[in-house]
Amino acid sequence: MDKLQQFYKDKRVLITGHTGFKGSWLSILLKELGATVIGYSLDPYTQNDNFVLSEISKKIIDVRGDICNRTELQKVFDEYKPDIVLHLAAQALVRYSYDNPIETYETNVMGSINVMEAFRKCTFSRVAVMVTTDKCYENKEQFWGYRENEAMGGYDPYSSSKGSAEIAISSWRRSFMNPDKYDNHGKSIASVRAGNVIGGGDWIQDRIIPDCIKALESNKTIEIRNPNAIRPWQHVLEPLCGYLMLAQKMWESPTQYCEGWNFGPHSESIDTVWSVATKAVENFGSGEIKDVSSAESLHEATLLMLDISKAKFKLGWEPRMNLDQTIEMTIDWYKKYKTQHTYELCVDQIKKYFSL
Ligand SMILES: NC(=O)c1ccc[n+]([C@@H]2O[C@H](COP(=O)([O-])OP(=O)(O)OC[C@H]3O[C@@H](n4cnc5c(N)ncnc54)[C@H](O)[C@@H]3O)[C@@H](O)[C@H]2O)c1
Repeated sequence: MDKLQQFYKDKRVLITGHTGFKGSWLSILLKELGATVIGYSLDPYTQNDNFVLSEISKKIIDVRGDICNRTELQKVFDEYKPDIVLHLAAQALVRYSYDNPIETYETNVMGSINVMEAFRKCTFSRVAVMVTTDKCYENKEQFWGYRENEAMGGYDPYSSSKGSAEIAISSWRRSFMNPDKYDNHGKSIASVRAGNVIGGGDWIQDRIIPDCIKALESNKTIEIRNPNAIRPWQHVLEPLCGYLMLAQKMWESPTQYCEGWNFGPHSESIDTVWSVATKAVENFGSGEIKDVSSAESLHEATLLMLDISKAKFKLGWEPRMNLDQTIEMTIDWYKKYKTQHTYELCVDQIKKYFSL
């Protein structure tokens, strides 16, 4: 944490998607590291969101707006002059994307292009980390993890929109922010692909932990649609630290790290949805789970794993927690959020995470 603190102290960091699950944690983490945080996003989804409960908006520059609105986005860059941009804003749900494919593409593809254009035109900004997902790879249901140089793809509109965003990022890098011509443009841009992220303060529907907590809090049975799906689970702090380490390396060596990066768990933390729900119930102390899978369900990948060798060897990043620790810390947040201020709760968990 000390190394990150030394680097991020007084840096101006723009986070798009700061009102969301990962963005709220990232805002708190960066605030604790001493950065000046500027957030640009739509409003939070619910009054229970970590962004709302933690009252992080009082400690940062909180701007509400749409990444599809190029003019407003550019104004934020011009006014706040961020050193570093962490682009997280997205329509982030697979099932929602089947009902809203155009919105998903507008936000995830054109929105990302708008962020890159604003970044490119802002002379003060030097580093951009663009968040996509592990689902950006063409899923072959293979038994080993995807590597950064594998083909982009995606079956559903969400996954394919992120695969498309990756192709756009690669094109913008080659065309406008090419490391070979760094002296002309002074920009470094990378993309990051994380696995399934869990942690306190997420209430979005159709994600396993929020679904479990909502059922457990109302004494209902947890219904599992896709019990056998295998995912790379990790605590939200794991990829966020990876993004921050990467941005620091890009700042220090701008032509060395501007490429795609996977951030996922060790292979022991790759497990089924059913197993995660079972562990969540054990940690909560009560609850029941039911398999409601059906042949009519929308297509979702069954097997998805990431190879994290590159981040381990080139960045020195590595997951700190196994699956049991990840679920324990996550459920601990949901057990405490009604009695402890969630800013303090997140800071306690951040300190615990860095002490591991
Ligand atoms: N949660 C995961 O398991 C996971 C895994 C891999 C990748 N990701 C990626 O990480 C990023 C953050 O995910 P999350 O889980 O925090 O999602 P989230 O849905 O909780 O947050 C999304 C954020 O984006 C903002 N947003 C959405 N559309 C916008 C628009 N048009 N203009 C401005 N802001 C907009 C929302 O207001 C919110 O702040 C996303 O890019 C997502 O695809 C998430």
